[in-house]
Amino acid sequence: MSRPRQLEALHPIPAFPLNRPRRLRLHPHVRDLVSETSLDPSHFILPIFVENGLKSPKPLPSLPGHMKYPTESAELIKLIARAMELGVKGFLLFGTPSTKDFKGTQSWSPTGPIQRAIRFVRSELGWEPVIFSDVCLCGYTDHGHCGYPKSSPRGVMIDNDETIKAYAESSVSLAEAGADFVAPSGMMDGQVKAIREALDSRGFTEVGILSYSAKYASAFYGPFRDVMDSAPRFGDRRSYQMDPRNRMEAVKEVLMDLAEGADMVMVKPALSYLDVISEVKRSLPWMPIAAYNVSGEYLMVKAAAEKGYVDHDLIMLEVLTSIRRAGADIIITYHAIEAAEKLREGKLPF
Ligand code: PBG
Repeated sequence: MSRPRQLEALHPIPAFPLNRPRRLRLHPHVRDLVSETSLDPSHFILPIFVENGLKSPKPLPSLPGHMKYPTESAELIKLIARAMELGVKGFLLFGTPSTKDFKGTQSWSPTGPIQRAIRFVRSELGWEPVIFSDVCLCGYTDHGHCGYPKSSPRGVMIDNDETIKAYAESSVSLAEAGADFVAPSGMMDGQVKAIREALDSRGFTEVGILSYSAKYASAFYGPFRDVMDSAPRFGDRRSYQMDPRNRMEAVKEVLMDLAEGADMVMVKPALSYLDVISEVKRSLPWMPIAAYNVSGEYLMVKAAAEKGYVDHDLIMLEVLTSIRRAGADIIITYHAIEAAEKLREGKLPF
């Protein structure tokens, strides 16, 4: 069969076929010259966990190499300063309250864990670090849901419109504490609009929104839920997080968040959703896209390396490169510091 004419126009078969592509792979510098993707710590965001009332940093067995930090601790400042020295400039804060309740009241309290940590970081390091704050209720509520459960004729439902009021309140209190961006992760409808309006009406027009636009109902969040003690006490998150079978729906979610005022959007998780990252980037090439290389993905790399059959640093860098290659501008990753260290040593495996 002859090649379709359209294909011939786009990809004409050259008269002198480039039949030795290996020429471009022979020399490492030539490989660098023709490489299509770059990996640089300036694109990383490091997630950090803080807890109200904690006395000293607590190691996290489900996230090897990570700790939970007291809100006003020298160790927290040291971590951020070390990351910045390595070129990592963005930080995403998650907080654990001293007590959980139905409404998750510490999430909008001026003395909530993230609010206290941000104030402390600002007093020690000024406005140099770019601070993103997660906005959600699951770590703050005694039921572990990202919104308020309410009984209805259909059974227990998450009350969308009451929940986004709480997100708006939290966002304002995080802006007051000094957040650069708030990052709503609850997948409630209209959350970005509610937050944007609240921030603007309180004078925080310069505080941005990184929306978890396409966040899937994924089993890859296991280690994170262990750290945050945030697994839902009943039911699951499938009535608000996205169905793993859907790709095009992510474009709809992103467009809606954009219309509501998001400055950046996110696809989460990253590794099993590279096609979604790519679809979103191709649909909206001018929109900054973050991908969240989540806790379960991180733990898989650690666990596989521990078995001894893969090289930890090589797969870490390959994973991060693949996320960039798919189209992510920003990678939120627990590997941020160790990857930045390897990149500084010039240890790219490619
Ligand atoms: C809270 C939230 C979750 C993660 C980030 N924000 C977990 C969840 O939805 O249960 C997961 C991050 C990770 O696994 O690294 N809504």
